Amino acid sequence: MNPFAREVKACPYPYYAQVRNEGPVRWNPEINAWLVTSYDAVVAVLRDHVTFSSKNSVFGGPALDHPEFPSMINEDEPKHRQLRSLAASAFTPKTIDALWEPRIRMLTNELLDAVEGKAAFEVIADLAFPLPVTVIAEIIGVESERFVDFKGWSDEIAKQIGRYDAPPPPDDYEITEPRDLGPLFEYFVATVADRRENPRDDLVTRLVRAEIEGQRLTDFEVMSFLVLLMVAGNETTTNLIGTAIRGLVTHPAQVAAMRERPELISGLVEEALRWDAPIQGFYRRATRDADLAGVSIRQGDALLVLYAAANWDPAAFGCPEDFEIERGRRDHVSFGLGNHFCLGANLARLEARIALQEVIRRFDDLRPIDDFEESWRDTPFFRGMEEYSLHFRLRS
Ligand code: HEM
Repeated sequence: MNPFAREVKACPYPYYAQVRNEGPVRWNPEINAWLVTSYDAVVAVLRDHVTFSSKNSVFGGPALDHPEFPSMINEDEPKHRQLRSLAASAFTPKTIDALWEPRIRMLTNELLDAVEGKAAFEVIADLAFPLPVTVIAEIIGVESERFVDFKGWSDEIAKQIGRYDAPPPPDDYEITEPRDLGPLFEYFVATVADRRENPRDDLVTRLVRAEIEGQRLTDFEVMSFLVLLMVAGNETTTNLIGTAIRGLVTHPAQVAAMRERPELISGLVEEALRWDAPIQGFYRRATRDADLAGVSIRQGDALLVLYAAANWDPAAFGCPEDFEIERGRRDHVSFGLGNHFCLGANLARLEARIALQEVIRRFDDLRPIDDFEESWRDTPFFRGMEEYSLHFRLRS
């Protein structure tokens, strides 16, 4: 079965278990790629970035297939490290916590104030979507008021990346015109031009001034950077906040535990990441023949590395289906591992922590509204709910 099929999307974990039972690394003719589903094999691939290349790991779509589009996520060393280092200091735990904690808490409280007067709490629209998009726009230095446009653009890209087939080899690439995304590119081009003229204390300005081997980035290169941050920082964090709240709603005893021991908050965030990974998997391509978990991989083969399946490998996590905030584990692979480990992990963790703390502090009796049916977003790599409408009672 195709791992991107709708039926799998609705309920992926039994499928992953079935594939893993057949073997930790199995060829899938539907997508012409190996499915890597055991924890050990996923870790082995992610740690060996020389054998398993990231070129085209997140492939497809006009935004990412353009030759001038340098996205660190799709690059190998040394280019990957050069690009990553340009933005890394903006995302260290120190910078994120010191600069953004108060702002994220303020935004969260503004969003939840507005919920208090409503009949139902629409988790995605009221909180999980607007919070990350506003924060990443402010970090980058673009107008957060345009967040509805950003959402449209980042949804469009999320749908375009990944096709229901393995990535083409790097040299055999279909080049499409990135300006198909229209207003997004126009807006970013204008912003980049503006910061060249009027520098500010923001990430766009920093990228505009940055150099790699004595060369400034072109406008297009700066723009691709911004697009990556917008997309990577949005839908993923939205999905995480939605999943964490779903975990609590479906496991009310865990809410009680959280109230008694607020220090369990990090455990809650880590367990939500493990329990339903916001990015289910990305691709790698073998640069040489290799043995992986006893299977012979040939040079040029594509591999779909399923973080979500690794997180539910019973050999690594006992009773993986249980949502257990006291599990005390941070070694899930939902942020990847190795040289491409998520640049925004500190930020995502902080946003989720604050969002959950404030929701737990304000609301009680959270449960889905009558006739609510879960529906999952139709994007190849990401997993998250379309909507999540909850009844609530205000805590006194
Ligand atoms: C819960 C939220 C998030 C999840 C689950 C997540 C997941 C991931 C994963 C799995 C990777 C590794 C890709 C690979 O190995 O090929 C990655 C990379 C990346 N993420 Fe995140 N991410 C999240 C939030 C964010 C945020 C908020 C940002 C904002 C800056 C961000 C920026 C990036 C970037 C720039 C990369 C590429 C890093 C590199 O190639 O060196 N992510 N993310």
